[in-house]
Amino acid sequence: MPISETGLSRRTFIALAGAGASSLALPFARPALAQAQPIKVGLLLPYSGTYAQLGEAITRAMELYLKQQGGKLSGRAVEFVRLDSEASPPKATELTTKLVQGDKVDILTGPVHSGVAMAMTKIAREAGVPTIVTNAGADQITRQLCAKNVFRSSFSNGQVGLATGKAMVDAGIKNAVTMTWKYAAGEQMVNGFRDTFTKGGGKVIKDITVPFPTVEFQAALAEIASIKPQAVYSFFAGGGAAKFIKDYAAANLQASIPLWGPGFLTDGVEKAVGAAGNGVKTVLHYSDDVDNAENKAFRAAFKEAYGIYPDVYAVQLLDVGLKAVNGDVAKRDELDAAMAKASFKSPRGPFRLSVSHNPIQNFYLRELKDGNNVLVKTVVKEFPDLTTGCRLAA
Ligand code: PHB
Repeated sequence: MPISETGLSRRTFIALAGAGASSLALPFARPALAQAQPIKVGLLLPYSGTYAQLGEAITRAMELYLKQQGGKLSGRAVEFVRLDSEASPPKATELTTKLVQGDKVDILTGPVHSGVAMAMTKIAREAGVPTIVTNAGADQITRQLCAKNVFRSSFSNGQVGLATGKAMVDAGIKNAVTMTWKYAAGEQMVNGFRDTFTKGGGKVIKDITVPFPTVEFQAALAEIASIKPQAVYSFFAGGGAAKFIKDYAAANLQASIPLWGPGFLTDGVEKAVGAAGNGVKTVLHYSDDVDNAENKAFRAAFKEAYGIYPDVYAVQLLDVGLKAVNGDVAKRDELDAAMAKASFKSPRGPFRLSVSHNPIQNFYLRELKDGNNVLVKTVVKEFPDLTTGCRLAA
């Protein structure tokens, strides 16, 4: 479905944010012709399919930030090279190779889909190109497959699941059915959830999966109605999430079996689902209502630029790295080292990276009310992901 027809607002990730850096780079300090060329940033993102609005959101936020910096980072123009990943893992190797070897991007960013991320980061590791994963949560990227040049500005799937499981235990929920798309992101978000939920005394009665990216939910919803769990924990995102929430409400389940999930379930689809989403509770590293100056400023700027409010943010990483090398992207080791140490205040709250390069960040409980994800409380502050198997962590 084209984005224009979904009516979905955009969730937003800024991989390129931070205080202006351009004024510090003196023209005569730039050594060579290469420095006069624009920095090429590759964006491997879904611009079609069920995740299209997520890809658009990430792109918009990056463009907005760049515009706010006068089109330059550390004194250098930035050129975005976009490729539609179609959220399709089989196409990811070829597309990433095109960006790295064909377009010779200086920095690689994206994707949304965990399967695409696995292929993308494999190439990134081999090529050594500094890479920022701006959404996809595949656990391995910042666990056993961590790498010195691969960073994540978003979250790991397991991390969000762990935080949501905690919130559900805190809410007194004793049993639940899980339901998700059958691919890495859904499975890992369920595994994280299962961990904290069961350790907190909860019982997972049944795990239901449907193939990605199907939106045929009727049989599963009938099964949930017959099982009657105390709650459902569910990961869907983008167009699929909007359909799931509407179908869940149409099946009259929301009143008796509250729907919970990672915040991707409701982010970007708040307006599209309207009252059907009332009462859906989610946990995420961002909430519209995070009360800090960075969030207020960013929301205002985004609203002014696009006429809508953003939903989720990933912030400020690349700019930190670029400042450290004065825009000289050829200094990869220094750029990577600076990004690894990045620490700043962001719209989502304090942001820093673990030794495996995954954000350590707050997680918030939100409840959807008439098209708004209303902040309920902070579930956990400065919550790290596991670094299991990461050699950088040793
Ligand atoms: C993923 O595939 O990692 C993924 C996709 C969409 C989301 C979150 C995670 O909203």
